[in-house]
Amino acid sequence: MRALIFGGQGQLGRELLAVAQQSDKYRGIVPQSIEVFAPTRSQCDITNIDQVRTVFYSVRPDVVINCAALTDVDLCEQNVPSAYLANGYSVRNLQQAAREIGAHFCHVSTDYVFDGNADEPYREWDKTNPINHYGASKLFGETQLDPDSTTIRTAWLNSATGKNVVRTVLDLVGKTQGPLRFVNDQIGSPSFAHDIAPRVWYLAMSRCRGLYHVTNQGSASWFEFVSEILVCLGRDRLGVEPIATHELIPQRSAIRPKYSVLSNFATSSLGLDDLPDWRSGLAHLIGQLA
Ligand SMILES: NC(=O)c1ccc[n+]([C@@H]2O[C@H](COP(=O)([O-])OP(=O)(O)OC[C@H]3O[C@@H](n4cnc5c(N)ncnc54)[C@H](OP(=O)(O)O)[C@@H]3O)[C@@H](O)[C@H]2O)c1
Repeated sequence: MRALIFGGQGQLGRELLAVAQQSDKYRGIVPQSIEVFAPTRSQCDITNIDQVRTVFYSVRPDVVINCAALTDVDLCEQNVPSAYLANGYSVRNLQQAAREIGAHFCHVSTDYVFDGNADEPYREWDKTNPINHYGASKLFGETQLDPDSTTIRTAWLNSATGKNVVRTVLDLVGKTQGPLRFVNDQIGSPSFAHDIAPRVWYLAMSRCRGLYHVTNQGSASWFEFVSEILVCLGRDRLGVEPIATHELIPQRSAIRPKYSVLSNFATSSLGLDDLPDWRSGLAHLIGQLA
């Protein structure tokens, strides 16, 4: 059994590789016989179909998981063609190559496909309506998938590496004069790559077709999330103050959905347990980092 992972140097990709290396612990999710290949961007740029084909035909994977993406939401707004190339056309390349060699394709997408005007968690069948180019390019990527593929939307990812709010707060505490300021009018599903990764493997290896929302349970605003990070670090939760998005300095290039909490309806319907509440994912990550 051979798996090919794109974006293996990113937050989720690294956790997917870590799960595969602990197949004893994740028995029933990842077979012990699995061989995992994870080319870096310099070894395979997924926007280049020739490079993609070369890798697929040399590895001949049974399953392919794509975590590679241009995830900087503001950069996507500033460089729209790059966003569509990385998040849209590259998905077409990977799906085409997977189809040619008969591999199952599992692709990771985002909560930002929604406009944020809901007041209850988005289910898999809810209408998408992205409000920034990151979300629109990721949604375009979703449309490039074959019906037999697996699409997983996750949200607000954090891990021990890469760019995320937990690592940002760890960098800021102690260095910043006065309280941190985080917005209280954007609400989402804080999620942790170490909790998401085993579920991604399960859905990919089981060849579950269609669309799945996969997040930690619970919701929070960025302000509430940062308050809890401070508490986990043994600091005063008053070390962060709530602001509105229009008070951000500097203003961001891309607007964000006000509310992008995802209901994990489709995985529940498969009989799978909910992933842990985000507070427990956070405690685990802080334990790793602090
Ligand atoms: N981060 C979040 O909060 C969040 C929220 C919702 C959904 N998601 C989705 O979850 C998935 C994983 O996110 P993540 O946070 O793990 O991403 P990440 O840490 O930003 O990693 C993305 C990876 O993609 C690689 N990559 C980018 N363009 C590439 C290209 N043209 N060819 C080959 N590799 C390329 C990057 O390589 P380099 O290291 O060389 O740049 C990096 O290793 C993505 O699909 C993302 O859209 C993320």
